[in-house]
Amino acid sequence: MSAVSAAPPSTPAAGAASGAVTSGGVLTTRFCGLELASPIVLLSGCVGFGEEYTRVEGFSNRDVGAIVLKGTTGAPRLGNPPHRVAETYQGMLNAIGLQNPGVDAVVRNILPTLDFSETRFFANACGSTIDEYVEVTRRFDDSPIDAIEINISCPNVKEGGVQFGNVPEMSARVVAACRAVTKKPLITKMSPNQTDIRENARRCIEAGTDAFAVINTVMGMAVDVRTRKAVLGNGQGGLSGPAIKPIALLKVREVHEVAGPHRIPIIGQGGICNSADALEFIIAGASLVGVGTALFYDPLICPGINRGLAAHLAETGLENLQQLVGTLGS
Ligand SMILES: Cc1cc2nc3c(=O)[nH]c(=O)nc-3n(C[C@H](O)[C@H](O)[C@H](O)COP(=O)(O)O)c2cc1C
Repeated sequence: MSAVSAAPPSTPAAGAASGAVTSGGVLTTRFCGLELASPIVLLSGCVGFGEEYTRVEGFSNRDVGAIVLKGTTGAPRLGNPPHRVAETYQGMLNAIGLQNPGVDAVVRNILPTLDFSETRFFANACGSTIDEYVEVTRRFDDSPIDAIEINISCPNVKEGGVQFGNVPEMSARVVAACRAVTKKPLITKMSPNQTDIRENARRCIEAGTDAFAVINTVMGMAVDVRTRKAVLGNGQGGLSGPAIKPIALLKVREVHEVAGPHRIPIIGQGGICNSADALEFIIAGASLVGVGTALFYDPLICPGINRGLAAHLAETGLENLQQLVGTLGS
């Protein structure tokens, strides 16, 4: 049995709208000036460059509000040695190492193949240096991409990534430098592997972020008892899936405490498998909800989540999900 398949099924959608979402429909969500047909965002690294699942029968990019492309660096990267993934209880470890063809190839060869009428596409900008983050952001700024997520929280590369994201001063410097070269919505992707995520969020707001993605994967490892070596070629990796959901919820709550008063939205993520999970994140403070690891065992999971969210609105008499954001009682 898959490690994540034991998650509870999607909330039944009795009497709810069909899974298809339409612009202007009940699930329509505004995010950084963009209209999204659904609050669901497919997460970076879990959908390739937007084409990955379009070959799966029944899958449609139209079922989600946005798709975040795989982390992209200035130059092409081959990624880490195998093994790159390992299954864990209720989740998985990965250490892909930001394998990607480089920003130029993404903008020139991949973006023209994407159908921007189906959904929104967000870039995921990565780098080993601040200059590289700037280079990638500037290149995406001059492209049809709808928003740019700055990944300062990748735990699987030797330089950059989480080294920036775990130090508020460094996070703010990356955000400010990227802010200076784009007017597109800028989303800062936060690491859970840090001491004070509130302080980091505060600094990133001052530096000009428009939104947050909370959280990236949690650092972890697995050991092969036979070889007495780490299972992952990289030695360590990032844990995702239902195992990290409670951590992610708390981090969303903490970032919302800081970002909420500034009306800065959060893409909540970490183990979301069904509409009940998504609702928990929205109540904790997320405006959008990310689905990543769950796609690996059920690529057709999103229509059911949409139905469950629509059913919840119908049951509670709320007009839209925005009315639920950050409503966690004390
Ligand atoms: C195989 C894999 C690759 C990932 N690659 C990236 C990446 O390139 N950039 C990034 O910001 N996050 C990356 N992530 C993190 C996810 O985008 C997401 O933040 C995290 O997995 C938590 O959500 P989930 O539990 O729903 O998967 C990756 C996750 C997985 C499982």
